[in-house]
Amino acid sequence: MNNNYVLIGFMGSGKTSFGKWLCKKTGRKFIDTDEEIVREQQRSINDIFATDGEEYFRKLETELLKELIFSENCVISMGGGTPVSENNRPLLKELGQVIYLRTSVDTLCERLKKDTTRPLLAGGDIREKITGLMGKRESIYEARADLIIDTDKKKFEEMYEEIKNAYSCN
Ligand code: S3P
Repeated sequence: MNNNYVLIGFMGSGKTSFGKWLCKKTGRKFIDTDEEIVREQQRSINDIFATDGEEYFRKLETELLKELIFSENCVISMGGGTPVSENNRPLLKELGQVIYLRTSVDTLCERLKKDTTRPLLAGGDIREKITGLMGKRESIYEARADLIIDTDKKKFEEMYEEIKNAYSCN
């Protein structure tokens, strides 16, 4: 067992902030798939989408997951669309315990309304975009997860308790 936690969930569900907190708490190393891609590509996600398109970005995500397969004792925060691709399904399970941070559309709207870094949310009505994407993704997130944590109004400490209870360890 590689001892990794893999955090999945919609944009704005707190994967990065909770993931970093969880690393401090448990002594794991933090890996963020978006950050890795931006570093390797030396350009922003907005740039990648604008120049090469979403499909190209999805290929980069799958390549990266394959590279991460030997990582150990990590918290891996995944881009919101990464778990959706069928190609990535077996990779997720290999990467570690998959934890879905489930967050309400209201909370996501509040957190994302001023965001300019996510190309899939650019332009138009933010609530419509989030509701539309969530409608397509929610059941996939749930199906991919080993553990689901409802994050609304919860402290990180409480979320961590749920992880400890689920896995009887740190
Ligand atoms: C995406 C989520 C983003 C990033 C890209 C696409 C998505 O990551 O990978 O903008 O399809 O949901 P975060 O979930 O970390 O914002």
